[in-house]
Amino acid sequence: MKSMISLNCKSNLLLKSLNVFSKRSYNTLDAWSNIPEHIKVKQGRRLFLQNGHPLCSLRELLQQQFKEKPINIVAKESPAVSTITNFDSLGIPKTHVSRSKSDTYYVNKDTCLRTHTSAHQLEEFQNLAESKMSKKGFLITADVYRRDEVDASHYPIFHQMEGAYLWDRNDKGSMLRDLESVKLDNNLQKLVIDEATLENHDDLQEVYSSKETELASIHLKNSLTLTIHNLVLMTPDSGLDKSQVRYRWTYDSFPFTQPSFQLEILWKGAWLEILGCGVVRENILTHAGIQNHVGWAFGIGLERLAMILYGIPDIRLFWTTDDRFRQQFTPNNITTFQPYSKYPLCYKDISFWIDESFTANDFFEIIRDVCKDLVESVDLIDQYTTKAGKTSLCYRVNYRSMEKSLKNEDVDLLQDNLRKAMASSLNIQLR
Ligand code: PHE
Repeated sequence: MKSMISLNCKSNLLLKSLNVFSKRSYNTLDAWSNIPEHIKVKQGRRLFLQNGHPLCSLRELLQQQFKEKPINIVAKESPAVSTITNFDSLGIPKTHVSRSKSDTYYVNKDTCLRTHTSAHQLEEFQNLAESKMSKKGFLITADVYRRDEVDASHYPIFHQMEGAYLWDRNDKGSMLRDLESVKLDNNLQKLVIDEATLENHDDLQEVYSSKETELASIHLKNSLTLTIHNLVLMTPDSGLDKSQVRYRWTYDSFPFTQPSFQLEILWKGAWLEILGCGVVRENILTHAGIQNHVGWAFGIGLERLAMILYGIPDIRLFWTTDDRFRQQFTPNNITTFQPYSKYPLCYKDISFWIDESFTANDFFEIIRDVCKDLVESVDLIDQYTTKAGKTSLCYRVNYRSMEKSLKNEDVDLLQDNLRKAMASSLNIQLR
């Protein structure tokens, strides 16, 4: 999954003292601080808690799928977490790209905006341990933040749901019973392609027997296939032949699960990635104070799934305050988005010389800051390097409002402001 923190990692750098982020550090800015205004103004909108909003309905519908399970259901507040929580607690190596300033928003060197809900795994596992395992898992929903490109499926704030479920290794019976309860019927089984069965996997966690890993993996895959399929069955039939839907499991890799998998869905003829998951690394559990347990975790991007199920074509729509969007939806229902109008596109090209300090994400941040949600996408349309080694880039900035027709002079002004902001804050030379 492109947007996921995905890598092969053997190091398990779990630090004991997982501090919660402290107010003092939030106020201390340093060379790492890079949270722009456009993020600050959207922080706190909590779309996933707004009754009737598709992200809220999707959260509710997903939660309902897990209602039989003894789990904690949590909505996380402040997105500022320590880098230890977001990265180290999960074994993400110090050198991993997701830690760079160009990929992550930093409050300061030690505090970032969480880049995934996995940041809260350890804390929630600790809560299970403290409750003496009276609950077996959790579902966390939160806003997460990543610096990224500008297009219809990327937005610097989005939402994830993280789930986990554990069994006591001494209680084999409960695992087998749970497996029975997520058996797929023959019809659903026919829609599933499993390219990630364990017989060819030569790098399983040694602490667990291959049988335990296999049972946990099957329970994981079946639970999630059922969950997603139940949501698919709730979507309106318009334009979709549900018998054509397929689910495909492939291997993935995350430092905090082993083995790791990805689920894709064949939807209207295209394979789309919808979630990442795997068998939780045992050392994360023992660090949380949970001994002798085995289980799984998953993380799912709510926008991505909502765009599929509700037919929402552009991720910016989730943030619109236009009633024509909001009033289409009723709580805890999946209906197909009715486009109210598509306003004309207007594009402007921008060319500039760069040096080695240039990163595209810095440029995209300036666009988001200056043009807000009026830019639909940005494409690199030309790039060349002179004999003397100077590189020039040309980007096409596609302007389109979701709410009104943009006037030429509005776009000219935006482009002009964009050029000024680039000249003053990037090491580039406009052409
Ligand atoms: N945190 C991962 C991501 O956002 C998803 C994930 C969650 C994978 C839990 C495995 C287990 O990319």
